[in-house]
Amino acid sequence: MASVCVIRTVRELQARADEERGRGRRIALVPTMGALHEGHLSLVKLAHEVADVVVVSLFVNPKQFDDPKDFERYPADLSEDLALCEAHGVDVAFVPDVAELYPDTAASWVEVEALTDGLCGASRPGHFRGVTTVVTKLFHAARPHVAIFGEKDYQQLAVLRRMAQDLAFGIEVIGGPIVREPDGLALSSRNLRLGPRARAQALVIVQALDVAEAAVGEGERDVQRLLDRVSAIVGSADQATIDYVELRDAESLEACAGRLEVPSVLALALHFEADPDGQGESVRLIDNRVLLPRGGA
Ligand code: PAF
Repeated sequence: MASVCVIRTVRELQARADEERGRGRRIALVPTMGALHEGHLSLVKLAHEVADVVVVSLFVNPKQFDDPKDFERYPADLSEDLALCEAHGVDVAFVPDVAELYPDTAASWVEVEALTDGLCGASRPGHFRGVTTVVTKLFHAARPHVAIFGEKDYQQLAVLRRMAQDLAFGIEVIGGPIVREPDGLALSSRNLRLGPRARAQALVIVQALDVAEAAVGEGERDVQRLLDRVSAIVGSADQATIDYVELRDAESLEACAGRLEVPSVLALALHFEADPDGQGESVRLIDNRVLLPRGGA
């Protein structure tokens, strides 16, 4: 198996991209902040299906953390990430340092309006500006034909699709399905920071999503009743605090009201406290499910 090529500068990555493009090869970019898990690896697998050359970026972007402590605690194990890249046939790992992407002179930001209002945009001020700015830099560095992001960050995916379209990047943005642990919890590098009691309680998230999906399948269309049911389930976890529980139009992300008539995303964000015995730490988890109100009720 060819070994993964580690590139640390934008200039080198652009040169490699131009070379690959010159040979008629299709490039897929999988942007990550490292701490790779099965969720990321499923995106790499998808990348291999749609392109000839797979680039994974490993960069913990300081500009998208509204809480500096969250940034400091973000797990980083480059050698483990590179070993996983190697094992999964990644062609190029892009590992810039902060000064490479944000030189002291940098004064430009990329911002997407409307879609970034509410949900994670409301609870994490500045977060999406950091994401859209870094992804723009990664797009210019890797010059991919296609970029792949996880559907767990549903709002992020919608924002990046809009950005790619509005700014005519000529890059197809693809979403990869959420990968779950065997008990249903969506994979996240943050799961490991939950104490055992909080980890058990975190299953309320998938229970709530399942109940809402089943209710819609059985004909429930009342948005408030659905939200109340979901809130009651997640509210039963005494270590959880609701950041948001919302139903939004799956495409425009506008809030649903009244009756559920169109495909809608049920989006949840919860904070879990450390366990009462001190195990684990405070962790914010997000998850979502697209609900399809097919047929009449
Ligand atoms: O989803 C992530 O891991 C990050 O937000 C991304 C897209 C890699 C940008 O830093």
